[in-house]
Parts: sequence; C-alpha cells; structure tokens
Amino acid sequence: MTAASLDPVLANDWIVACRSSDLRDRPIPIVILRERLVLFRTEEGVHAFSDLCVHRGAALSLGCVREGRLVCPYHEWEYSTDGACAKIPQLPASQAIPLKARARTFACVERYGLVWVNLAGNEPPLVTYPEDDDSTFRNVIWGPQEVNANPPRIVENFLDVGHLAFIHQGYLGMPDHAEIGDYRMVEEEDGIRSEEIAVFQPDPDGSGQAKNVYYTYKILRPLTVRFTKRDRELGNLMTILLTVRPVDEGKSVAYGILSFNYDTGTTDEEIVEFQDMIFAQDKPIVENQKPENLPLDLQAELSLRCDRVSIAYRQYLKKLGVALGTA
Ligand code: FES
Ligand code: CO
Repeated sequence: MTAASLDPVLANDWIVACRSSDLRDRPIPIVILRERLVLFRTEEGVHAFSDLCVHRGAALSLGCVREGRLVCPYHEWEYSTDGACAKIPQLPASQAIPLKARARTFACVERYGLVWVNLAGNEPPLVTYPEDDDSTFRNVIWGPQEVNANPPRIVENFLDVGHLAFIHQGYLGMPDHAEIGDYRMVEEEDGIRSEEIAVFQPDPDGSGQAKNVYYTYKILRPLTVRFTKRDRELGNLMTILLTVRPVDEGKSVAYGILSFNYDTGTTDEEIVEFQDMIFAQDKPIVENQKPENLPLDLQAELSLRCDRVSIAYRQYLKKLGVALGTA
C-alpha cells in the first residue's frame, strides 16, 4: 500500500520528518505513512528519497553522503540530489548510465528547526509559525516522542482541555478546579481557533501562587496544531506548535516547538524534560483509547460543551476526508 492510498490528504500535506539537528552528515531513515524514506543533507539543503536503491534494493540510509551525492552502501552507485544516478562504478566507461537508474524523490524543506516532507509533490504552503521569526520569543524544539497510538489521537489529546486537571494535576491543573467555562470556536483564514479558556493552575508563573491562565487552541492542519497560554497579569505568553509524524495508523512520532516571550528561569534541557514528563502522563491514555482510531462520527461518543475543540477537530478531519485510521 502506498502512502497516497493510505491517506491522500496527508500525502498532500507537509509532514514533519525530523529535527534539523538530527540531520547532519549522515543519511537517516524515517517512515511516513508506511513509506520508507531516507533523508540527507548536502550544501544545497535537505533531501528526501525513497529508502531503496533501484539496483538491488539496498537501504540507501545505510550509505553515506559524498561530494553532494547519496551513495548506496552495497555497490556504491551515486545519486545526485535530483535522484538521477550520476555514477555506477561497475559500468565500463564506454557505457552510458541507464536513464532508469534514478531514486524516487520527495519534496523536502527545512523550517522552524524541523525538516518537512511532502509525499505527493504538490507542495502546499507550509504552516506558518510567527513566533519563530519573532525575536521576543525564545524557541525550543521538543521531541521526537514515539507513541503507539493513532496520529489524530495524539493531536486530539493535545487539544483536550478537560484532562489537564487530572492527568497533569499539580502541574497544569487542579482536580478541585476542573470546571471549564463555555467558549466558542472561531473560523479564521489559516485555521479554527478557540476563544480563550480559563485554566486554574497551581503555579503558572513560578511565584507559588495558584491562578487562572488562558488557553487558546488552534487547528492549523490535520496533524499540526498550536496553543497559546497567556498570563493576563504578567503578559507572559507560551505557545506550542505540535506536529505529528504518522508512521502508520497506530504509530506516531510527536515533535513540538515551545516558545516563550518571558524568562522561564530554566535551560532548554529543563524545558524539554518538563515537556517529556507531561507527555509521559498522556502516553498511557492515548495508547489505550478505544477505538484505536479517532471516531469522526459525532454521535459515536458523548461530548460536552468543553469538548468543542476536539469536536471541531473531528469535523475538520471529516470535511477534509482524512482517512488515516479514523473510524
Ligand atoms: Fe545499491 Fe547495488 S543495491 S548499488
Ligand atoms: Co496532556
């Protein structure tokens, strides 16, 4: 089954492949929608090929990058960045390189500290993340975090405000302040946004004082969403762009960009550690939800008003026709 047949909507989108920092001099293998890819970097930039040499099917990711070419480990055929084979060591000089000696290439870009791949080659506009260009924000890359769960399940969990008081109690919420006030969803040009939702947190600003902070969620793409947490008194903003790589229906790899317009008093490593700890609290939940696939039929489960973000997300996936493991 090809990626496009697994999910044409996602194949048409930009999917996060890895962090920029993961891709240095060596090629690396990754899987998107069951498609095995090799990513590599040259002076021209980042590139994605099918992880398969047309000669004898060796994994190109076991090879190396030499003088701007991807070299197969097995018989050292050399592929140019456009996919064409530029050198076949076994071929006598009198013979031309067969035109069929080509790797399958995919669109690949690097942005916001992440590498993105577009399988279908339609290259839609990449999601915008204004905090990345804004010098008032400090950005920290988080992930990869592998999860044995359906990719839309990971995204919906991130958009779920009701669980903060319980799953993340003591950190992002308090059980005796679990009530969620009403809010609406607003359609915008680049996505669907919630109005601000008050969340009572034990110590959002490090002063030891419990108070409300205000969450805004926004659905940007099927597997890319964001939230903003605002401290109304201090003007502190924290945003997270969450984006998920769909390995297949039941396997996801999550990445994030965490941005702060204030001094957190912590190192990048500490910020990542905290986010890992929060994510570890979510993991057993999302890995055991039933059905495994996200139900898009709104009658399938019982929703509350406070679930408006996830209802909007399910409606959005349904409207787009996202097929990947949705029920
Ligand atoms: Fe790649 Fe032979 S399998 S060069
Ligand atoms: Co959570």
